[in-house]
Amino acid sequence: MDNTLLVRAVRYATERKQAEKALQESQKQLMQSEKMACIGQLAAGVAHEINNPVGFVMSNMGTLVGYVAAFKEVIAEYEKLAAAVSNEDGDAHSPILTRIEEIRTRQELPYIMEDVDKLLAESADGAERIRDIIQNLRSFARTDEGQLKEVDINQGIEATLKIVWNELKYKCNVHKTLGDIPRVQCYPGRLNQVFMNVLVNAAQAIEERGDITIETEALDSSVVIRIADTGRGIRPEHLSRIFDPFFTTKGIGKGTGLGLSISHGIIESHNGTIHVQSQLGKGTTFTIRLPIKAANDE
Ligand SMILES: Nc1ncnc2c1ncn2[C@@H]1O[C@H](COP(=O)(O)OP(=O)(O)OP(=O)(O)O)[C@@H](O)[C@H]1O
Ligand SMILES: [Mg+2]
Repeated sequence: MDNTLLVRAVRYATERKQAEKALQESQKQLMQSEKMACIGQLAAGVAHEINNPVGFVMSNMGTLVGYVAAFKEVIAEYEKLAAAVSNEDGDAHSPILTRIEEIRTRQELPYIMEDVDKLLAESADGAERIRDIIQNLRSFARTDEGQLKEVDINQGIEATLKIVWNELKYKCNVHKTLGDIPRVQCYPGRLNQVFMNVLVNAAQAIEERGDITIETEALDSSVVIRIADTGRGIRPEHLSRIFDPFFTTKGIGKGTGLGLSISHGIIESHNGTIHVQSQLGKGTTFTIRLPIKAANDE
């Protein structure tokens, strides 16, 4: 009898420990997803603030190009005038002409005239790039986190690709077959976070150079998204664990092991599914299926 009591006590203690551990893990996971949401909001806020000044810098650059062209036109005529005047009657105007010539040489005017267009073009190009980055950041982070929205998943994928492009561009050839799909009722910012996690994992699985293939298609009343890579693949014994919080095969400080568990949670909250197929040494495919209408339309 004592024995049974002991067994029960041990079992109770073990179960309690497990429950505590599960609670701790889900708290950590919650903190992580709150942190991600905060970072997203911060990024969107900063992007929004930069958007205005970048807008007027770009518009002023356009005007400046016109003004500089006007200056150059007038200066060219003045130079002709100076040449004509000094040929005719150098002496009468010489103090002014000499001074102009001195300034012209000191300031390297011919070089400035040549360089100014290049500088303007480079600056306009830079401002345009800043504007593009801001737009990508905004469409990626989507400040409408809390609201269900009907969005084009293909656009979300494109926006996410631009955000993770730096991680992909050196190693991956990205192939896209984005189908003609209906809009999906979803939390766009969160879905983009899923695409980002899966894409970054795909890139990290590729050692030297490989392919990432992204496909979307409509299937019944769902949209299916497939993200495949030709990376190292997942060991069969790991397949059932990759969605577990904190499961990672990446070195300390490299992976938290939260990417897929958060993604799994996000897809579930959309009443969708996320599955994986993998062949060691060949590659991995993640298949996400999302209902067009979120069933729990709270
Ligand atoms: N495309 C993939 N190819 C090979 N292994 C993968 C792939 N995607 C996920 N995995 C495996 O699943 C594990 C868990 O992935 P998950 O995204 O949850 O965490 P992580 O990438 O290790 O860390 P984090 O996402 O926090 O940086 C990875 O460590 C890796 O072993
Ligand atoms: Mg990851």
